[in-house]
Amino acid sequence: MSNVFASRSLNVIDDLSINERRYFFKKVKELKDAIIAGNEGVLDSFRINDPDFGIYEVFLEDSTRTKESFRNAANFHHVKVSELISSSSSINKGESYADTFNMLSGYHNSIFIVRSKVEGLTKWLSEECTEYAERNGLPYRPAFINAGDGKHEHPTQELLDEFTFLEDIDMSFDSIHVALVGDLYHGRTVHSKADGLRIFDHVKVDLIAPDELMMPESYIEKMKQNGFEVAIYPSIEEYLKAGDPAKLWYFTRPQLERMGERILQKQDILREAITFRRDFLPYIKEGTKFYHPLPRHKEHPTIPTWLDKTPLNAWERQAINGMYCRIVLLSLIGGKIGDDYVPVPGDHVTDRRTEEYIIQVEPSKDRKDKNYSEGVRPIADGIVIDHICKGDEPGAIRSHMRLISTILNLDDGRGGEWVSRGSDGQYKGIIFRPGARPLERKDLKRLAAVAPHCTLNIIRDGRVAEKYRTHMPPRIYNFDDLCCQNEACISNPVNGEGVPAAFYRTPDGHFACAYCGKFHTFKEIWKKRS
Ligand code: CP
Repeated sequence: MSNVFASRSLNVIDDLSINERRYFFKKVKELKDAIIAGNEGVLDSFRINDPDFGIYEVFLEDSTRTKESFRNAANFHHVKVSELISSSSSINKGESYADTFNMLSGYHNSIFIVRSKVEGLTKWLSEECTEYAERNGLPYRPAFINAGDGKHEHPTQELLDEFTFLEDIDMSFDSIHVALVGDLYHGRTVHSKADGLRIFDHVKVDLIAPDELMMPESYIEKMKQNGFEVAIYPSIEEYLKAGDPAKLWYFTRPQLERMGERILQKQDILREAITFRRDFLPYIKEGTKFYHPLPRHKEHPTIPTWLDKTPLNAWERQAINGMYCRIVLLSLIGGKIGDDYVPVPGDHVTDRRTEEYIIQVEPSKDRKDKNYSEGVRPIADGIVIDHICKGDEPGAIRSHMRLISTILNLDDGRGGEWVSRGSDGQYKGIIFRPGARPLERKDLKRLAAVAPHCTLNIIRDGRVAEKYRTHMPPRIYNFDDLCCQNEACISNPVNGEGVPAAFYRTPDGHFACAYCGKFHTFKEIWKKRS
């Protein structure tokens, strides 16, 4: 049986399926038990023990735990550890990340562990370096582990967080009730939980943060789509007043380094809402545990140090578990373990690239479909795009029609746009362009992406000869005028890395950036035009 884990990259937590993650946690438990029991036979079954195998640490943002636990995990495996000192690397001379990591791949490095403020970096690098390895005949494809990318994800932290939760709930995947407290806006470890907690069959999440630090709507939406019960509270005080606190509390620190001036000015007030106080103790449940990805701020910890020696403290064990989890992750990616994992059908989301997004329908027989007029004259030949932005306000519809016209190169020649009001009282836009105009497949895809839920009418001899309904394509990429609006994303032009934007459709009808995951409406995925 082939090993499905060997040489895999971990860019986001969902790169491992739910079943693969459950298998992973079983292996971490096995390793941890063997370490505690000193069972060398079991430990050897995890050990890569190959001097040609190496991890390469590239930390473009500060780290203690992630970096050092990976280094110590590599020592367990008796494999090579290399480090790129970013402050003295040629990245500072303007070299692209792709060129830098391609070259490091050529030095026979197996696993790159990369932390950066640039979101989606390891996903891009895993694509680029795979191609580089193929065209240069390298003996193996390098794997990438995202050790934290900006505000996006921290998948290995997610693995160790969940393993520690599992230890405290008898390793059961049945259900979890967890409170996430702190800077839920900037914190990538809590963002990873939107998919990470899917390993549990029933999930209840209480989000505790003032408005300024509340989790972005896209992650809350994702949690709901994943079937989680989600409740929101502005402070610990209000949460405890509500009377049904979780037994598992996951704290995060205010990420001062990612905050703008407006929020920084209010940091004292914001911190108060998410810091645990002595007078809260009587209101928490028996058996409650506190977790924290750490570091804590030495002057303003959200879990105060007087709690260190209480049974609430699970964050120290959590940090220790980090090394065990990373040992097992290297064992899996190194192909040392994982042969016995039996892939489950549907483990990974099916590829929907073949799904149709422009569907031909029969022109209806009503009078309106028989002819569209250009002013007072019916259009003899041409196209009419109807039902644009139905339900929006007229100004927004007009503005979007301008964008559609530009995206589809409809600005030349005759024709026009108008806004009409249907019998249901809703406004909609119509673009008409007289004159035969061939529409290629790529034009239709662009039309479906910029004008979903519309109809495209092809007019010949004054009649609707063909009629199509547009739906959001499951994926959109390979067009120069696409753009992720997140400036921290590797694909945003401000980063100068030349990464083409790519989006996939979410269940709630957004386009998510394939690199940073940011949700966009269909109006927002295009480069801004002056
Ligand atoms: N939890 C965590 O990522 O810690 P470091 O920033 O020290 O790596």
